[in-house]
Amino acid sequence: MEILVFDDYQGLSRKAADLIKEQVTKDSQSVLGLATGSTPLGLYKEMINDYQHGLDFSQVTSFNLDEYVGLSGDHPASYRYFMEQHLFSQINIKPTNIHIPNGQAMDIERECRVYESAIQACGGIDLQILGIGHNGHIGFNEPGTPFGKETHLIELTESTRQANARFFSSIDEVPSKAISMGIKSIMKAKQILLLASGESKAGAVHQAVEGPVVKEMPASILQLHPNVVLLLDTAAASGLNRALVNQVG
Ligand code: F6R
Repeated sequence: MEILVFDDYQGLSRKAADLIKEQVTKDSQSVLGLATGSTPLGLYKEMINDYQHGLDFSQVTSFNLDEYVGLSGDHPASYRYFMEQHLFSQINIKPTNIHIPNGQAMDIERECRVYESAIQACGGIDLQILGIGHNGHIGFNEPGTPFGKETHLIELTESTRQANARFFSSIDEVPSKAISMGIKSIMKAKQILLLASGESKAGAVHQAVEGPVVKEMPASILQLHPNVVLLLDTAAASGLNRALVNQVG
């Protein structure tokens, strides 16, 4: 695990964009795994900036980590809507190359299997972007989710529903289920970038990096992946043993 610590959010966002740029420049047909949430917003701004300065996403394929069950793609709190608004509508990725689980599928179990197969059919994910929940979740894989799961149906915990309620008009509107790539799907990515910003993530980052690898702390599995880069700001890194970190900005 490589741990890079930046003075601020802008620094970590720019570095994440540089690593994506490197990947897409090396292979124009790269497969990117993408996340929603507040953390990657700075990265997506930088990717748009790179596109405006000539980076070509026309051959890139994307797979998002997760989607709520029951929300249509045009619901403002759906992850499809989020991605369209914050990234896809502003770069030249082809709509047919964009993949987000269909939370309105009639048969959710089948949708999960089809999604997982689609990832493998594209040759697997070259570079996966992750955020981390306060409880250590990655994707929507909540504490206790078996590490062996591929894309699957999730019951959201109350704490995750509370954390995401800010995107809905009330907590009652937050769906109770989601489809998420599983830990096994995430671990198959060739490279993983985990982004975390702010003191509220310091505890989860500390446990994920320095704690035992246990399913109660889903992000701890990343200790076993051969190619993970953690991009943190100083606040998110504040719980880490300083000897482990590389202060770069
Ligand atoms: C989003 C996702 C989640 C978030 C995590 C952090 O697609 O899968 O695991 O990455 O909840 O969210 P933020 O960035 O809003 O703190």
